[in-house]
Order: sequence, then structure tokens, then C-alpha cells
Amino acid sequence: MTRRILVTSALPNANGAIHIGHLLEHIQTDIWVRFQRMRGHQVSYVCADDTHGTATMLKAEEEGVTPEQLIEKIRVEHAEDFRHFLVEHDNYYSTHSEENRHFAELIFNRLKDRSLIFTREVQQLYDPERKMFLADRFVKGECPRCKTPDQYGDNCEACGATYDATDLGNPRSLISGATPALSKSEHYFFDLPQYTNMLKDWTTSGAVSAQVANKLAEWLDSGLKPWDISRDAPYFGFLIPGTTDKYFYVWMDAPIGYMASFQNLVDQGNTLSFDDYWLPENSSEVHHFIGKDIINFHALFWPAVLDGAGFRKPTRIHTHGFVTVEGRKMSKSRGTAINASTYLAHLEPEYLRYYYATKLNGSVDDIDINLDDFVQRVNSDLVGKIVNIASRCSGFINKQFDGLLADRVDDPELWDRFVVAEGELAGYYEAGETSKVVREVSALADLANQYIARHEPWKLVKQEDQRERVQLVCSQAVNMFRALLVYLKPVLPKMVQAAEKLLNIEPLRWEDAAAPLLSHKINRYESLITRLDRKTVDQLIEASKVPDAGASAESSNEADPEVAANATQNPFISIDDFNKVELKVAQIVNAELVEGADKLLALTLDLGDQQRQVFSGIREAYDPADLVGKLTVVVSNLAPRKMRFGVSEGMVLAAGPGGKDIFLIAPDTGAQPGMIVR
Ligand code: 2FM
Ligand code: ZN
Repeated sequence: MTRRILVTSALPNANGAIHIGHLLEHIQTDIWVRFQRMRGHQVSYVCADDTHGTATMLKAEEEGVTPEQLIEKIRVEHAEDFRHFLVEHDNYYSTHSEENRHFAELIFNRLKDRSLIFTREVQQLYDPERKMFLADRFVKGECPRCKTPDQYGDNCEACGATYDATDLGNPRSLISGATPALSKSEHYFFDLPQYTNMLKDWTTSGAVSAQVANKLAEWLDSGLKPWDISRDAPYFGFLIPGTTDKYFYVWMDAPIGYMASFQNLVDQGNTLSFDDYWLPENSSEVHHFIGKDIINFHALFWPAVLDGAGFRKPTRIHTHGFVTVEGRKMSKSRGTAINASTYLAHLEPEYLRYYYATKLNGSVDDIDINLDDFVQRVNSDLVGKIVNIASRCSGFINKQFDGLLADRVDDPELWDRFVVAEGELAGYYEAGETSKVVREVSALADLANQYIARHEPWKLVKQEDQRERVQLVCSQAVNMFRALLVYLKPVLPKMVQAAEKLLNIEPLRWEDAAAPLLSHKINRYESLITRLDRKTVDQLIEASKVPDAGASAESSNEADPEVAANATQNPFISIDDFNKVELKVAQIVNAELVEGADKLLALTLDLGDQQRQVFSGIREAYDPADLVGKLTVVVSNLAPRKMRFGVSEGMVLAAGPGGKDIFLIAPDTGAQPGMIVR
């Protein structure tokens, strides 16, 4: 059955260049899209630039152009960058479009008609000079907890505390330098808590991975809050209907941009129909590919907004981790925040596509680029193992047999291994586990190389009576190579296209792996891909260095700081990082149920010299009465976290997957409350 699938990658912000972080996601999406197309499904892959917000407005001002001029210039650059990396969007549009305005207004009006929108007065810092309200990232001041100066309005880089911008000491506006004052304004809210039950069902229905569903369950259990969807003028965005100075918050109209880009594609003249994909209860699919820092927008707000406005919910949200380089966050000063255009000036795009494919495994774990490993994977696997099959054998076919392949398969059993791999490989692609695809293809390539080594066609060719064997062996090798091309085509479309020319065949489809080429004439061999030189990689890093730049290129418009903090994990932490965690023995002196939270217990802990209140997700596993008097271990220097039920002042340690299977960590007898755990 042909599936009808609409696919999106997250919309890049229109205020910066495309870098290897964006490329991970778009390459991952593109591989999935190409795989589905090779299988004969009907896929539309749309994207756009995410254009709205204060940052765009300020940047345009700084460059002396209108926001419209700025975003169009950047949109063209972004689309070009992706095209060079062989990412085949069917439409690369803009959220600043009439289609997007139409859908944003339509959705807002429908939500309003269903009483899902309300207004409430909000107090915020206001820049009296620029006459504008300040988002958290546009104000800095002294951390209310540790008093470190120069901290942003949402969290402290020194002690990790999260707070409201209004709590900062000596705040100053990053836009004008003026001292901001508190001011009130009316904001529009979407009544998200009404969707708690729907979201609990939807997030556990297979729409997100189990790993992501667990994270979302924490938020759902600790209680959703109404979502602020408006911003005050001046703002670059769409006016909220019925107002003259209230704009849709960028995160309201950004996902609607997926719809708008698709509508624009439909209007370009084809057989697509908007309603087929966006009205509920039809048989098409909608797949979003995103990074883990924006999972709350896509798996909580977006499905709720869609549902409220009478549209369908996404089929699946595919979530990936962050890109790290050599185990660390990308950094401009270290030259590891590599822009697409800088990369293209030094290296082939397919090296990166292949390397990302070796790493992607369908989880939200971070993807580390290790530069030695990068070079090694390309040179030994791709060039040395896979392409080598063709370069070793097609020459004999060309020179000795005028390009003609044998009329039968020499080793049917071996050939069968290549044919039957198809089902497993298709499953891996579907699940986004391309690392397994690459591993399996590499194992098959080993078999092919062993076969060639066993038969030594270069020796056979010297014996007149072995001519037929040479043709059979080299033809089998060419056919095994062709099967691997089928399996790698979603990852390496350009190399495979060149190989199709070499093999003198039509563009490969997935099912072509099953039938060998017999009595078929191939063309002369030409190099398909060159080895990767470590020196060139070093030059790329050098060229990417921005002296005195800030640490990271990972940024979202105004991502929820809580989510971002939870999401930035590297595969390793240093001993210094570990030493920052203070663990103490604590005695549970009281444990109670928390009304409205079916997974939490409120624990009162005795730490020797003080008592703390900690909320812990262990309710399903423990009866509160059984806990009183027990010893456990608490992270005692965790910044206090505001939850719906109160402030949680630490975290108790427990092991296990969750639910009923969670076990509090308890120190051995003899330990006393307040003892440091090391
Ligand atoms: O995080 C970001 O970079 C956002 N611009 C992604 C938006 S995705 C979608 F919701 F539009
Ligand atoms: Zn601090």
C-alpha cells in the first residue's frame, strides 16, 4: 500500500547561518524521506525559515535593512546550504507568509471560539528607553541566589539556579543598557492544562519514543501551565486578530509554518490536497523531525493546539540529541561550531551524511563527531571496503569482457545473503536506526571482499582456461556492490547516482536489490569518492574558529530554559563536573501524597543540620508510611526548583525504569544524616 507522508524538519531561525547541528537533523530527515521514496511511498518534505521574534527585529535594525529584506536573504542562503548537502526539501518557505498568517489567525479564532484562549495581566521587565518589554535573554543582572553578576534573566551559569528575570539584582537591558522597570501588560494564553489527559494518552501511543514519553510524563505529572502565546509591540510577527499591539509569540506561529509551507506547496500545482494531510481521521501521515530541546513545543503545545483547532495530530515526532564535537558542545572559539558554507569549502557533503548515518540510532543521545573516527569511517569503511569492491572488479569486466557481466550468479548462497538483508535494513531505516544499516552494510561488504580475496581474479586472469571464472567472480562482486548501493542510496544519493552511471542502469529502487544484473553491459570505472585527508579536516576546524566567540552555536529562539537545561548532556562529564554534585545521606522524616500529582511523593528530609522538602516520582513504588525513618541519598546542592505544588529542594537518588520498578538508594547501616557521600 502506498503511504502518503508529510515530513518536516524543525524550522531554522532566520537570524543565523546553518551549522552542523541543523545539518544533523536535515540529513536525518532527508535519509528517511529518500528511503520512503525508494519504497514507492508518496512523500512531501517541507521546511521553512522561522522568522519572527525580537531577535530578527533587532538584527535587521543592526544591519540597517527591513526585517523582510533580512529574512528573505537568509532564507535563500539556508535553502542553498541544504541543497548542497543533498537535502531535498520539496518546499523551503518562510513563516512570514500570507499562508502562515491565514492559518495562525484561523487556529487562534477557532481556539477562541472554543473558550481555549483567555487573557491575563502579566508583570515583566520593561526597557523605558526602547519602550519595549524584555524577554529573559535581553536582560542581565545579579543572580538572586549566588550573586554572580552578568547573568541572563532565566538562569545562572555560575550556580545553575533558575528564576524569573524580575528576581535579578541590578538588572540592565541588553538592548539599551537602561535599567528596566516592572510594567504590566495583558497577555493571551492558551488553556493547555485542559489537554493533560489527551496528551497523556497521545504521548504514550507510540507518537514519540519511550525515552521521550518518560521525559514528557514528568512534565505532565508535575502539571501543565497555561501557555502564553502573545508578545507586546514592538515585535516582528503577526498581529493577533482584534488587537493593534499584540503579536503572536514566535513559538505559536512557528509550527503552524509546517502547514503553511505545505499549503504553499499544494498551491504550486500538483495532486496534493491540504485536507488529506491535516484533517483528522484520514489515512495520511505527518512526521516531524526535531531536536530534544524543543520537544515540549512539539509534543505538548502543538498537538493540543491542533486538536483544539480541529486538525489532526502528528503521527510521529522523531527526536534526536545534540551534536557534540570531540565530546564537547560545539564552540565557535574552538572551531567546532562549523557552518555549512565553511564545511562545503573544504569537504564533500557525503562524508558528513555518511558519518551522521553511522551515528544515528533513533534515540535522543547526543551525536558526537570524533574527528579521527570521522576520517577512519569514511576511509576504511566507505572507500576501503564498499567502493573498493567496484574498483577491484569492474576493471576486469571492462577490459576482458568489453563491459559484459556474466549470465548467471556464481555463488547463489552468498548472493542470497545480500538479498535477504533487505527486510532487516528496511526496518532499521523506518526506525531511524541508520547506524545499524551502516553496520549491516559494512558486514556484507566484508563478505564481498572475502569472496573476492578467496577467488583472486587477478591471478585467474593470467590463466587462459580460467577466463569464464574471472567473469563470474567479478560479475558477482559487481552485483553485490549494486545491492549495497541500493541499501546506501538514502544516505549517499550523489555517489550512488555516479555509480548508477557506471553500472549503466536506471535509478535504483529498493526492490532492485533482489534481482542481479545478468548479461548486462556496464561502463568504464571512474572514481566514485576520494579518501578523506585528516589535514583537510584540520583546515576546516581552523577556518571555523571565531576568536573570542561565545561558547556555543546551539540556540533556539526562546526555548524553555528547563528543557534546555535537561537536554544538554554530553556523553562524558569530567571529574570536575562530577565533583560539583554534592551527595548527602538524608533521613526521611515525613512522606506524603501530593494532591493532583499521581506519581509524586512529598518527602521531608533531615540532612543533619537542616530539613528539606523534596518532591520525588516514587509514589507508585512506595507507600509513604513505609518510608518514614529510612535513610537515602540526596543531591543536596541542586538548585531549588519551583514546581506546581511547591519548591523542591534537592533530589533523592533511585534506580530503575520508573513506575512500580523504582528503588530508592539507601546507604549501609551506620551512615548518619548529613554525611557526605563520596
Ligand atoms: O529551535 C528552533 O530553532 C526553532 N526555530 C524551531 C522551530 S520548529 C517549528 F516549530 F517551527
Ligand atoms: Zn547563581
